[in-house]
Amino acid sequence: MRYFIGNWKMFGIPKSINILNKINSFHSKDKNRKKYRVIITPPYTLIESYSKHFKNKKILIGSQNCYQKDQFSSNTAAVSPYMIRSVGAKYTLVGHSDNRSEGDTSKMLKRKVEFALNNNLKVVFCIGEGRSDKKNKKTFKVLKNQIIKVLEKKFYSNNIIVAYEPIWSIGTGKIPNKDELTKTITYIKKVLKNIYKKSPAVLYGGSVDGNNVEMFKQITEIDGFLIGGASKSSKKFIDIIKNYYR
Ligand code: 13P
Repeated sequence: MRYFIGNWKMFGIPKSINILNKINSFHSKDKNRKKYRVIITPPYTLIESYSKHFKNKKILIGSQNCYQKDQFSSNTAAVSPYMIRSVGAKYTLVGHSDNRSEGDTSKMLKRKVEFALNNNLKVVFCIGEGRSDKKNKKTFKVLKNQIIKVLEKKFYSNNIIVAYEPIWSIGTGKIPNKDELTKTITYIKKVLKNIYKKSPAVLYGGSVDGNNVEMFKQITEIDGFLIGGASKSSKKFIDIIKNYYR
């Protein structure tokens, strides 16, 4: 199974659903549709209406984050996995670099993963090294730490997907070269196999578009993509899928 996940970040109002209607109608007619899953993570404000709209359709809706507590608490503006699940989301991102840079620690992320899984949300756990980590050849060390500090053996790994997003590649148009990326994805899977018998799916994210997906698709270890900018346009998002299967 391959995954094409569109992370809208701080984008979207109710009528932006038109973008998803187009993606959904492409997906439902695509001859390759059984080979992949489309998940979109709109902002919290749209999860309920979009989940209802696509209830019996192909597109699945997820959240971009969740709070590290179960059910309810007294934290202003916090939204728990339980609340997210109750409005129809099936997935949640956890550990996106945007949230790590605003203070999400591994300790917090572990709780987020645990509570999300307990509330029947599948988790897309994001990891990635920064520009200086890469320059100082610390990439593997950073990635390993990000994984082992959060993903516990007791977590149900069938409901976990890992997304590798090098921070220097997010929104920059810069992408890793093929050899480098093959080695990194292979390494991530090796670390995951030390925790779980079988590695969860590992996605790539960072400046993915309809042109460079030609290179990414040659790396068979990559199980799919976490797409930011290009997921805000139905044409760009569909082009990525089309070119992937061409
Ligand atoms: P871009 O595709 O815009 O680089 O964003 C990647 C990302 O952060 C998705 O979560």
